[in-house]
Amino acid sequence: MEDIKNLFQGADWKAEKHVPVIDAPDTAKKGEFFNVTATVGKEIAHPNKTEHHIAWIELYFHPQGEKFPYQIARAEFLSHGASIQGPDTSSVYTHHEVTLSFKTDKPGVIFASSYCNIHGLWQNNKEVKIA
Ligand SMILES: [Fe+2]
Repeated sequence: MEDIKNLFQGADWKAEKHVPVIDAPDTAKKGEFFNVTATVGKEIAHPNKTEHHIAWIELYFHPQGEKFPYQIARAEFLSHGASIQGPDTSSVYTHHEVTLSFKTDKPGVIFASSYCNIHGLWQNNKEVKIA
């Protein structure tokens, strides 16, 4: 049986430009907001062209011991150079990076997924402890 989880690819982000990289503290303070940045192409730049770009990044938090994750953000990157003159003519490009803040009382794992318009779905995760 086909399963959507099989469509998500993962790899070492230092060698694969599609993997979303999650920058967040290893340990956050209980109940205090902290910043999370997710970027695609941190080590090896991903193209940002009309015909080839990152369309979105989603972030989830799965608290330790809970069954279900919480979606904490979704960023859509909507400008990739297209204009009435054609592809890559506008000079307006959204960079595929998002920073948000959230808080939690529980440790857990932040999951990121990203979507390249021609290379599909990618994933990564980062554990966050609570002090
Ligand atoms: Fe790509």
